[in-house]
Amino acid sequence: MKAAVPLLHIDNLHLTMRSFEGEAHVLNGVDLALERGEIWGLAGETGCGKSITGLSVSRLVKTPPAQYRGGRILFDGQDVLGLSERAMRHLRGRAISMIFQDPSTNLNPVLRVGEQIADVAYEIGRHAPEVLGLDERAGHLRRRRAARALAVQMLERVGIPDAARRAQDYPHQFSGGMRQRVLIAMALVGQPRLLIADEPTTALDVTLQAQILDLLSGLVRDSGTAVLMITHNLGVVAQICSHVAVMYAGHVVEAGPTRSVLQSPCHPYTRALLAALPRPGMARGQLTNLPGRVPDLIHPPPGCRFAPRCARASSACAQQTPAYRDVSPTHRVACLHPHEEGA
Ligand SMILES: Nc1ncnc2c1ncn2[C@@H]1O[C@H](COP(=O)(O)OP(=O)(O)OP(=O)(O)O)[C@@H](O)[C@H]1O
Ligand SMILES: [Mg+2]
Repeated sequence: MKAAVPLLHIDNLHLTMRSFEGEAHVLNGVDLALERGEIWGLAGETGCGKSITGLSVSRLVKTPPAQYRGGRILFDGQDVLGLSERAMRHLRGRAISMIFQDPSTNLNPVLRVGEQIADVAYEIGRHAPEVLGLDERAGHLRRRRAARALAVQMLERVGIPDAARRAQDYPHQFSGGMRQRVLIAMALVGQPRLLIADEPTTALDVTLQAQILDLLSGLVRDSGTAVLMITHNLGVVAQICSHVAVMYAGHVVEAGPTRSVLQSPCHPYTRALLAALPRPGMARGQLTNLPGRVPDLIHPPPGCRFAPRCARASSACAQQTPAYRDVSPTHRVACLHPHEEGA
């Protein structure tokens, strides 16, 4: 049964970005709703607005050059775009946390690994002492000690052997896969309700990638945390996501349960992405069967932005952005000429 208010509802979000060449229409009515415990993949080609969408939820997009032109981002029913920076800091790290692609840019090279996790835990514990297993009467020293103990526990949970000793190491003493585990530990230490993971495994080799994805899905399954997993890789989506939203040029063109979308893709763009799933010998990001390129966002094509590349497009497609139609009660597609389900 669906909850009355989704945990996260991105509702018709529009964003432009000022640049040297002009104003780019980066997000064009993004629409997405996540329930508790769901793992959503946000997929699409480079530049389609995945990261900007994720960063918007944590309000980490700089305005200017960006400007929100309409829509809302409701977290637990509250519009984060209207929150003060102070209220937002409260949400970030605690209720909403993020993991970014490159672990080397997210860990401080001169601080011990355990200390960095403990710092995050301590900071969260100032407003939420229960995270540290304490009540609000606990003093600084007890909190500090509890934060250190929690850091070691978290390292254990993400599979770092000999965690108490390794907590004393510096980031350069960890391998890339271990650093990514540290970032996961850091992101989950505050028991967030929503985790936004932006290409968390792209920098890793395939075996490590599978291990990290398994770890992540296990940890969130246990806690009920909802996840927005940003990735250009539909293989990652198939491996761990319960749902997927396919984005093209700032718009979600198809969304629904992973199995339904990947087995019965209805949008011509989703089909093209699937046809381009990496095979040996293929350049990364290369799309087969899909002529043309991502549209110029400063002068986007009218109507459906995919129409200029779409073999099924008619003149009506250039008139207006197609409304969503339901493929099933949980699977929707924004296309005037979708493929029939199963066809
Ligand atoms: N600071 C910025 N100034 C100007 N344009 C920007 C800025 N940041 C992003 N953009 C533009 O916004 C669009 C969306 O970028 P975004 O980073 O969200 O793409 P993405 O889908 O995450 O791509 P990738 O798969 O490469 O990470 C791109 O066209 C990009 O050029
Ligand atoms: Mg990105």
